[in-house]
Amino acid sequence: MSTGRIVAGALAPHPPHLVYADNPPQNEPTSECGWEMLRWGYERLAKDIAALEPDVLIVLSPHWQTYIGTHFLGVPHFASKSVDPVFPNLFRYHYDLKVDVPLAEAIEERARAAGLVTKMMRNPDFRVDYGTIVSCHLTRPQWDLPIVSISSCRATSYYNVDVMQEQQMALARATREAVVASGRRAVLLASESLSHRHFVTESAVPEDMSNEHITNHHQYLWDMKLVEMLRRGESRRVVDLMPEFTEQAVSESDSGALTWLLAAMDYPDYPAELYAYGSVIGTGNAVMSFIPPEEA
Ligand SMILES: [Fe+2]
Repeated sequence: MSTGRIVAGALAPHPPHLVYADNPPQNEPTSECGWEMLRWGYERLAKDIAALEPDVLIVLSPHWQTYIGTHFLGVPHFASKSVDPVFPNLFRYHYDLKVDVPLAEAIEERARAAGLVTKMMRNPDFRVDYGTIVSCHLTRPQWDLPIVSISSCRATSYYNVDVMQEQQMALARATREAVVASGRRAVLLASESLSHRHFVTESAVPEDMSNEHITNHHQYLWDMKLVEMLRRGESRRVVDLMPEFTEQAVSESDSGALTWLLAAMDYPDYPAELYAYGSVIGTGNAVMSFIPPEEA
């Protein structure tokens, strides 16, 4: 009998600054400190996720951008160096990760059957994107679980947010059904910031927190609106509001990560747990979990 299920979901933003500030052995640059509220919040998220004893992390990242369909990592093992193209001074990270290929293939197969354009990424030299790496690192720093990595099909850019959301809902159904059939205890990660208007210059000391703040009050108001709705369990309203939020807050929700997560978890009506909210180069980032009451 299958006992597969989604035991939790998390809004798991991926600013490379958080890994830089943590100084893990995998990252070459070193920092003095920085972004503590977000990093300490992530530590609490990691603890709560570990208590659920998951088998696999399934992550959807805005930085694996595929314009023709949704792609899935399809090689059992990747090891290389990931360099953030915008912040090579902060993130040069040596990764070594395992992929749950059978589960990735099962999601891909169901998504394709639902009418989505899909592809398995079979190139062993493919460079895994830093969004996937940062969210997985901060959620599970010990890297002892396999992952499923899903690309962001840029339907928002190519069409609009409504088309993107329809596609993500189909992908979410495929994800949920494949997890159930797999017998795995899965954790879903939506790897994205909320508001995403950021500074265009960097301070001399990147971790100088006297220079860190949200870009503008408008972005902050949108972030608080989304966070409060999720804390009240109003995830369907969040999905309804996504077109306006994505445009007005210049949000990374254009990737579809949050829509996919909420739909795959059947639109949580219980309160999300907020571990931290904070800005990184002016963007708004919330670290949150959605743990079904029966799992908690
Ligand atoms: Fe990003």
